[in-house]
Amino acid sequence: MAIKVAPSILAADYLNLEADVKTVEDAGAEYLHIDVMDGMFVPSISYGPGWVKALKAKTNMVLDVHLMVEQPERYVDDFAKAGADILGVHYEATQHLHRALQQINEHGIKSEVVINPGTPVSAIEPVLYMVDQVLVMTVNPGFGGQKFLPETVKKIEQLAALKQANGYDFDIEIDGGANDETTKLAYDAGATVAVAGSYVYDKVDPAAKVARLKEVTA
Ligand code: DX5
Ligand code: ZN
Repeated sequence: MAIKVAPSILAADYLNLEADVKTVEDAGAEYLHIDVMDGMFVPSISYGPGWVKALKAKTNMVLDVHLMVEQPERYVDDFAKAGADILGVHYEATQHLHRALQQINEHGIKSEVVINPGTPVSAIEPVLYMVDQVLVMTVNPGFGGQKFLPETVKKIEQLAALKQANGYDFDIEIDGGANDETTKLAYDAGATVAVAGSYVYDKVDPAAKVARLKEVTA
C-alpha cells in the first residue's frame, strides 16, 4: 500500500487556507497535519484548538495534530474536543507520558507518541502497546523547510521490527524534510505515513506533489 500523505498546513497560505486544504484533499491526501507550537518546547508559536475546530468543519481528512508543547497533558482535552482525530505528544515534553497517552485514549481518538532525533526508540518501548501511531521526527521540531536527517531511518527500522515481533499495528509517521526521495527511504524502512510541508506547498502544484509521494511508494 502506498504511503499515507499528511500535508502540513505550516507551509500553506493561511489567508487561502480553505483552498489549500481542499487541493490536497482532492489529490488524495489522507491526513491533514496540524503543528501546534507553544514558544517553549520549540521557539515558534503557531496555532491553538480554534484552528482545529475551524478545519474540522471544512475537511473530511483525518486531523493529525502534533503537539509541540510543554506538558501537553494540559491541552489534550481541548484539542480532543476541538476535533483532533489523532493527537501526538512528545516523549521529551512531559514527565507523565503514559498518563498523557491514557488521557488521549480516553477520548476515543487515536494516540500518538513522538520522538525527537536525539531520542532513542528504547525510550518509548513501554508505551508502544497503547498507541495508534509513532511519529519519528526526521528533523528537529520547530520549523518547516529543514533537511531530512538520514540517521533517523534506523529508528523507523527498529520500530518496524518491534511491530512485527509484538504484533502491534501502530502507524509509523515521519515528519520533517520529506520529499520524494526521503519519503521513499522512510517507506522502505517501514514508515506508513509521511508528513510533508514545504515539499507539498512551497512551489507549484501541491496536488502533483501528493501524487508523487504516492507514486514513489506504490
Ligand atoms: C516541524 C513540523 C513539521 C513541519 C514539516 O517542526 O513538525 O510538521 O511542518 O515541514 P517540512 O515538511 O517543510 O520539513
Ligand atoms: Zn509536525
